Amino acid sequence: MARISIFGIGYVGTVAAACLAKDGHTVIAVDIDESKVDSIKRGQTPIVEDGLAELVADGVASGKLSATSDVADAIENTDASFVCVGTPSAPDGSVGLDYVVGVCTAIGGALSRKDSFHSVVIRSTIVPGSMEGICIPALEAASGLVAGKEFGVGYFPEFLRESTAIRDYYDPGLIVFGALDHPTNAILDEINGGLNCEINHVDIRTAEMIKYTSNCWRAVKITFANEIGNISKAVGLDGQEVMRVLCSDLKVNMSPTFMRPGFAFGGSCLPKDLRALRFLARSNNVPSPMLDCALSANEEQIRRAEHLVDNLVGRSIGMVGVSFKAGTDDLRESPLATLADRLIKKGYNLKIYDPYVKEAFDEKLSGAGRGNDYIDNLEGRLVSGIGSLIDQSEILLIGNTYDEAIEPLSQAAQKNLPMVDLARLKPGMTSRDNYEGICW
Ligand SMILES: NC(=O)c1ccc[n+]([C@@H]2O[C@H](COP(=O)([O-])OP(=O)(O)OC[C@H]3O[C@@H](n4cnc5c(N)ncnc54)[C@H](O)[C@@H]3O)[C@@H](O)[C@H]2O)c1
Repeated sequence: MARISIFGIGYVGTVAAACLAKDGHTVIAVDIDESKVDSIKRGQTPIVEDGLAELVADGVASGKLSATSDVADAIENTDASFVCVGTPSAPDGSVGLDYVVGVCTAIGGALSRKDSFHSVVIRSTIVPGSMEGICIPALEAASGLVAGKEFGVGYFPEFLRESTAIRDYYDPGLIVFGALDHPTNAILDEINGGLNCEINHVDIRTAEMIKYTSNCWRAVKITFANEIGNISKAVGLDGQEVMRVLCSDLKVNMSPTFMRPGFAFGGSCLPKDLRALRFLARSNNVPSPMLDCALSANEEQIRRAEHLVDNLVGRSIGMVGVSFKAGTDDLRESPLATLADRLIKKGYNLKIYDPYVKEAFDEKLSGAGRGNDYIDNLEGRLVSGIGSLIDQSEILLIGNTYDEAIEPLSQAAQKNLPMVDLARLKPGMTSRDNYEGICW
């Protein structure tokens, strides 16, 4: 069983302290607010949360949970500290790190006087880079010790929801953390090991980003559902019924499908249907800012790809894929076709490898080139082999991936041929030198 000090006895810290004590760990709760410390000492919760009063009372009665405002005492008598202080918005909207810096400085001071190894785990919500840029330097400066070697460091975001916090603690949807060192990883593995949830080990920055992604995703989902509800009501429908049935599709709608960062959406359905629903909303005097911004954000993604190409040196582009996705020759509202057209108009010499579109022309199918409203001389730009495309290009632009093209293109990337990748040729490839992935 671990010995853990919890810094910050608010909504997150009190729940964590009480649940860790219930699990048998020895917990010391620390706060600068004496009234909260006194409250725990009396066996009373400082906040209202279902089931928490009993847990705190039991924890204190069993001797597993205690409280203090003495930082040195808490550090001396525990092996790890979890930091759960607030990170309120600064006036400019940035994350307010004053409390985190304050607590890191206080913990660091106590660490300088401690002989044995101690882990510091931040649980407060902090933007990517805060650990490396702010928290670790504050801890090192105050302790005179080296993070990851002379004391442990981890970032372990909290996802609980107030009102169901204890249930969320014991039945989490997501566990993720990053640590610099083995003892910190081990303690986090130990306290999470009994829970029925996969443990994700990632680097510290990724863990920081996942917390923000999670909360922003929740916010976006609520806003989307509200907008659908408003439009539904305006046309005489029950928005909750619409969303309930939509969400019953766990294979596509409520799944990782469409949740992989990459290039813009397109095709014959999504853009047209988004436009039509916006029109319906407007006709009924219902604002639809979320649907509006989906279209403008999509346009931004096309522009982003265009800028990435412009930043590379070369005038001849070999484009891989022009239909709206691999496996079809459908060019209707393909964002790759839009991108190709813009690049051609900018004066680039553009050739295209797209086996499905090429087949349609070679077979003289009546639908060949269907949906190509933009690209000048599309048929003349198509090449039949990926090797020949690579040979005649100064810049490669990967829009879709095709099995036979992955290896030759990966080799071209290894040879440092300038490349913009909108589809990610291979998992794990990241931007470097002349290789530029759109979101990686
Ligand atoms: N509330 C939630 O539902 C929730 C859920 C997940 C994550 N979070 C994140 O967790 C963090 C804490 O949120 P909260 O709602 O529990 O905050 P809170 O304001 O309820 O509690 C923070 C506590 O930290 C104490 N504190 C400040 N400086 C201190 C110091 N130097 N030493 C010891 N204690 C100190 C304060 O006195 C306060 O009691 C935030 O970053 C928040 O974004 C909150």
